[in-house]
Amino acid sequence: MEKNFKRTLITTALPYANGPVHIGHLAGVYVPADIYARYLRLRGDDVFMVGGSDEHGVPITIRARKEGITPQDVVDRYHAIIKESFAGLGISFDVYSRTTSPTHAETASEFFRHIYDTDGFVEKKSMQFYDEGAGRFVTDRNVVGECPVCHAPGAYGDQCEKCGSSLNALDLINPRCAETGNVPVLRETEHWYLPLDRWQADLEKWILEGHKEWKTNVYGQCKSWLDLGLQPRAVTRDLDWGIPVPVEGADGKVLYVWFDAPIGYISNTKEALPDSWEKWWKDPETRIINFIGKDNIVFHCIIFPAMLMAYGDGYQLPDNVPAMEFLNLEGDKISTSRNWAVWLHEYLRDFPGKQDVLRYVLTANAPETKDNDFTWADFQARNNSELVAILGNFVNRVMVLTHKYFAGTVPAPGTLSAEDTAALAEISRLKAEMSTALDTFHFREALKLAMDMARTGNRYLQETEPWKVAKTDIGRTATILNVAMQIVGSLCVAFEPFLPFMAEKLRKMLNTPALSWEAIGASDIIPAGTVIATPELLFEKIEDDVIAAQMDRLARIKEENKRNSWQPAPQQPDVDFDSFCKMDIRVATVTDCIKVPKADKLLRFTLDDGTSQPRTIVSGIAAHYQPEDLIGKQVCFIANLPPRKLRGIESAGMILSAESSDGSLVVIGPTGPVAPGSQVK
Ligand code: 2FM
Ligand code: ZN
Repeated sequence: MEKNFKRTLITTALPYANGPVHIGHLAGVYVPADIYARYLRLRGDDVFMVGGSDEHGVPITIRARKEGITPQDVVDRYHAIIKESFAGLGISFDVYSRTTSPTHAETASEFFRHIYDTDGFVEKKSMQFYDEGAGRFVTDRNVVGECPVCHAPGAYGDQCEKCGSSLNALDLINPRCAETGNVPVLRETEHWYLPLDRWQADLEKWILEGHKEWKTNVYGQCKSWLDLGLQPRAVTRDLDWGIPVPVEGADGKVLYVWFDAPIGYISNTKEALPDSWEKWWKDPETRIINFIGKDNIVFHCIIFPAMLMAYGDGYQLPDNVPAMEFLNLEGDKISTSRNWAVWLHEYLRDFPGKQDVLRYVLTANAPETKDNDFTWADFQARNNSELVAILGNFVNRVMVLTHKYFAGTVPAPGTLSAEDTAALAEISRLKAEMSTALDTFHFREALKLAMDMARTGNRYLQETEPWKVAKTDIGRTATILNVAMQIVGSLCVAFEPFLPFMAEKLRKMLNTPALSWEAIGASDIIPAGTVIATPELLFEKIEDDVIAAQMDRLARIKEENKRNSWQPAPQQPDVDFDSFCKMDIRVATVTDCIKVPKADKLLRFTLDDGTSQPRTIVSGIAAHYQPEDLIGKQVCFIANLPPRKLRGIESAGMILSAESSDGSLVVIGPTGPVAPGSQVK
């Protein structure tokens, strides 16, 4: 049954403050949430959009230790960058705070204490790895060792990346602390667990029966968790960074980051609205929507709701959790640690005034139902052939024609013809479809429909040809340009959730106050007599060199990553000694070396191998040496490989070289002079 709501609370996943925000975060959470918030506001709804930085958790402490600064220094740095870059992109938070705020510490503490006092937790003892050298417990993720399943080295305590098995850190073979290299010992510890099993039936009823309308990826993930049967989850950790567990004798323990972070939504609302926050969280007439990425589904659909149920006191559960899939970058998974990302603060620096282009591309490509790819080529194409060529072009034509024929004043229309009313009716039809798409979180579809409105405008001008009509019938020209101007007005509203910077600029050019969603499709949005400003282009073409610079940056990062991730090849299976002895490796002196014509890679060596006959070997190392630099050097070669022809030259053997981490080849020779023909043993 469709419920009637009085207001909508929009929450956006709190990004970890241990790195800046990238396009993956934007496409998955913040751009869709902002579109939705702006759409509801245009409809006149009461909306509150909450954001903030997630400033606890182990990775922040590791980063701090690595850099020799405090965790607070780390989060101060990134909170500032993140907050400023969100503002730069026009993400219209009603509050953007942080989980190191005093309000949050108080709220999260009280939340825990209330559940504790009402017996909502169970206490359990367990054995945990402890790093005696560092004097601290080590989380499962920070222990590495041999995988007990596939025996690969370097498996993490919680998962083996080689075979994908979920692991229990205590099962690792030869465990070591990832940060210190110390061998950990086992120590008993005690933690508080949220008994999710107690809430299993309520969660099943609420999600599986009550929210069949949720996106299939979200519903499906919830169902598989519920089908497996929920288990108690520890909500405290042995750590010195976080909100202290507010219980006597719990020294050295803090709330688990995933316990305190979602409470951040509540704290931040409270911080901004100290007197009225409760209605946003406890009134059944408030609709709560959580915007998150797919890796956060279980926390928002199972764990946080269980926390809210355990707390009681009227807290409302989310009405929908429209989680997105992941966005990749040029075919590869976005990764903060590998710097494989387009960072928002860098984008804003490199593309000043082009916030809407990024918002547009990320929405047009939003990973709504499957993982999707961001490419710079697509970014350029969508800007040049959609924003510039369709939307910008239509608006510009209408404004220029209004200046040309009516000195920049919107003319009064005469009687509308059938094609005029048809064009306006088409805009209204598209608006209705857009509303449905937005109401159901189909943002790509909604954006496509908005662009269809601009296409409708272009088609209308093409068909009515006001520049031709003007020669004979200025009255009809006035009607056409009036109708076209109403379409411009509709576009200004329809695109506002997606392209707020463009909408504001256009509104200024049109001398029009803020408009409501209702206005789309109306025949009097921009009243006759309105004096419009001199038109400026809304979008400009993005040239190839700009895109090439971004591609170069990514290529450099790829190279760097290749170098950093290089590891020696695994050792080959054993060979018996006799097999080794069959290889006749010798030293020769290079008497001549030239490039093989028309073969980029090949060098032709003439060698003195101690016999009276010069030996010819062709080797694929031309990219790594100037041939003349090798003349006079001594090299090692395999003498008893059967000769083979390369580019018509008979090559008698193989010169040995080593391949370095960057792929470069270095020829192998003796470290001191030896007689040509000496055997290598
Ligand atoms: O996955 C993340 O980036 C988390 N920092 C999201 C937290 S969402 C919420 F619960 F605060
Ligand atoms: Zn494994």
